[in-house]
Amino acid sequence: MRPPVKALTQFGSILGMIGARLSNKSNRAFCRSLGAPSTLSNAQVRLASDTVSREELEAAAKWMLESNQLTKGPQTIEFEKEFAAYMGSRFAVFVNSGSSANLLMAAALKASGKLRNMKVVCPAVAWVTTVTPFTQLGFDVTLWDSNASNLGIETAGLEDLFIKERPAILVLVHVLGHPNSMTEIVALCEQYDVVLLEDSCEALGTSVIDDVKLGTIGLAGSFSFYYGHHISTIEGGMVVTDDFDLHQLMLSLRSHGWSRDLDNRVKQELQKQHDVDDFRNLYTFYHHGFNFRSTDLQAFIGRGQLRKIHEIVATRSANHALYSELLTGFWTQKSDAQLLSSFAYGTAVLNRSEVALALSKGGG
Ligand SMILES: Cc1ncc(COP(=O)(O)O)c(C=O)c1O
Repeated sequence: MRPPVKALTQFGSILGMIGARLSNKSNRAFCRSLGAPSTLSNAQVRLASDTVSREELEAAAKWMLESNQLTKGPQTIEFEKEFAAYMGSRFAVFVNSGSSANLLMAAALKASGKLRNMKVVCPAVAWVTTVTPFTQLGFDVTLWDSNASNLGIETAGLEDLFIKERPAILVLVHVLGHPNSMTEIVALCEQYDVVLLEDSCEALGTSVIDDVKLGTIGLAGSFSFYYGHHISTIEGGMVVTDDFDLHQLMLSLRSHGWSRDLDNRVKQELQKQHDVDDFRNLYTFYHHGFNFRSTDLQAFIGRGQLRKIHEIVATRSANHALYSELLTGFWTQKSDAQLLSSFAYGTAVLNRSEVALALSKGGG
């Protein structure tokens, strides 16, 4: 793996998710009412809070007691349909984590046989499992610098990199919910025929021009439903795509590489191609698969969460605006989001305590 050209290491090390992740509840009361604490340790914004309510847990318990199938089944299919509809995507694949979602996208692209080479460009500011799927699968990874405003991929010099290296894939992370410079990036990827993937695990609900949601702009986008993210399925993740073939490959790779979840036509083609009869088809593994499945219990919880997604996004957006209004003395991330479904309020300072102190006083 190559290091970033001019790494933002200093920047990365001082970037703090100060003020905690923006919870789904408004922090207005905290910001407005707290006096100066005697010590910083009594600052009262929790890093994350649970999005699954008592009513939702009771509904899940009742549903379980009704002897429903708990493993992947009808609830998963409905959750995928509803998630895809919310995103404005054709397809969604529910998996057991955001990390699995990233690995599934990478593995499906590799298995597709359509990549011109194994070169991938990843952002220097990323989650570890944004990058490790590619190192694990034998890709040649170049880490690329981050934009000093939105913390996504830096576009200066990217065209030269595309010309020189001809990478097959560019991966984006929408850091803390903020979109990358999408117009420029999409244009460059189209011009140089680079497959665009979006790790949108921190950006569920953020939209750019014309209400287009992050995660739906590239060939595929990933999401995490781990505690503290916008919605929770305890653990969980999703990939969205409009690409039929990629969707079919991901369905197979998610479940061992078999064909049971596939479209009938694709299933039959595979059987014909490998000369497999209906009986043997059940235990024929066509691809080098994984088990990334989640459960129907988690899909049930996810469907409940999705019912309040608009409210969650609106609250996160308002919380971010409130932090921006009150923390005027500190650098913060800026981007061209139409609706910012913020994950956390990012700021860059030499001494984090200064921001923590300002927060505890209700602004600064
Ligand atoms: C950008 C990004 N990608 C991937 C992940 C991994 O998601 P998970 O914890 O569900 O595996 C995270 C988790 O926070 C993330 O922030």
